[in-house]
Amino acid sequence: MQHLIEAWDGEEVVVRRDRRTGAWIFVAIHSTTLGAAVGGTRMKPYESVDDALGDALRLARGMSYKWAAAGFDAGGGKAVIGVPEDLDTAERDPLLRRYAALVGTLGGLFMTGPDSGTTSRDMDLIAEVAPGSAFCRTVPAGGSGNPAPYTALGVFTAMQATALRTFGEASLAGRRVLVQGVGSVGRELIGLLAEAGAEVLASELTSSGAAWAAEAGARVVDPAAAVGTSCDVFAPCALGGVVSAATIPLLDCGAVVGAANNQLGTPEDADLLQERGIVYAPDFVANCGGAIAALGIETRGWTPEATRSRIVAAVEDNLGEIFDMADGAGISTDTAARRLAERRLAMGE
Ligand code: PHE
Repeated sequence: MQHLIEAWDGEEVVVRRDRRTGAWIFVAIHSTTLGAAVGGTRMKPYESVDDALGDALRLARGMSYKWAAAGFDAGGGKAVIGVPEDLDTAERDPLLRRYAALVGTLGGLFMTGPDSGTTSRDMDLIAEVAPGSAFCRTVPAGGSGNPAPYTALGVFTAMQATALRTFGEASLAGRRVLVQGVGSVGRELIGLLAEAGAEVLASELTSSGAAWAAEAGARVVDPAAAVGTSCDVFAPCALGGVVSAATIPLLDCGAVVGAANNQLGTPEDADLLQERGIVYAPDFVANCGGAIAALGIETRGWTPEATRSRIVAAVEDNLGEIFDMADGAGISTDTAARRLAERRLAMGE
């Protein structure tokens, strides 16, 4: 734990072990340069406590970049609740309430939203305990609701922008797209791709998710074979670290554009992709739609229509600039995206 925190470039980590459930809670605040930290709450079992902390630290940094690239005055943070595999379902809500009380003690330094393993209903519960600290509450509770359709819209836009650079046309009609992970965002994305006439392939670990994808008209592929499956666009929409030194040689695609946070195992993996001629849409640029919607709707009063057009414009503009910067300077798209975000972070200092 010490080594991970010392190697990290963020501001603060709050650690709580929940004695009742054995869960570990980490609230990582990476940067408040642009404003109070805003980031999702991820709730899942981890193999080790260090894995949970490491995830929180990386995800929090990603949020700093995401907000900076999206042009919002928010800081980067993330919460991870590492729960035991056998967490009693009756213990889940009380655990979330104790977590919410912890967030409340931070006095507005960190505000949260849904992420893998949490929903808008959970945000309602968090806001009951710590008012003002949760975005994306359900619509009846006064929030902007499930952000997944907005995240998917941003990823879909990123795919079109990347297709234009990679294949010479933005249309996804007839393109073979492999969606890895049929979670809340993956499902929305499959819907958009099907509507656009793409040939959709899907891989999913749960049988319910796989059944959903088949029902939606996707060809379901074995998760173990997903990375090596021939496609035009590979779309990681599950957890992070899918694109790494181990998997890049296996990829059989023209581009990687997905919704997952932290898709690359290490920053150098972007160079490996570039060497293979695979175009990468940096994750925190492609997947910013949900975050933009949360703040746009709840703090700026945007309508759903305005929110959608802002997301499309933000993704198109940022990716256009990033692809140009990468071509011009001979750097990877990931490095270019980081430079763009760092430039905006520096302006906020
Ligand atoms: N958790 C999502 C993300 O990683 C979306 C989100 C972030 C929603 C922050 C609300 C607030 O972008």
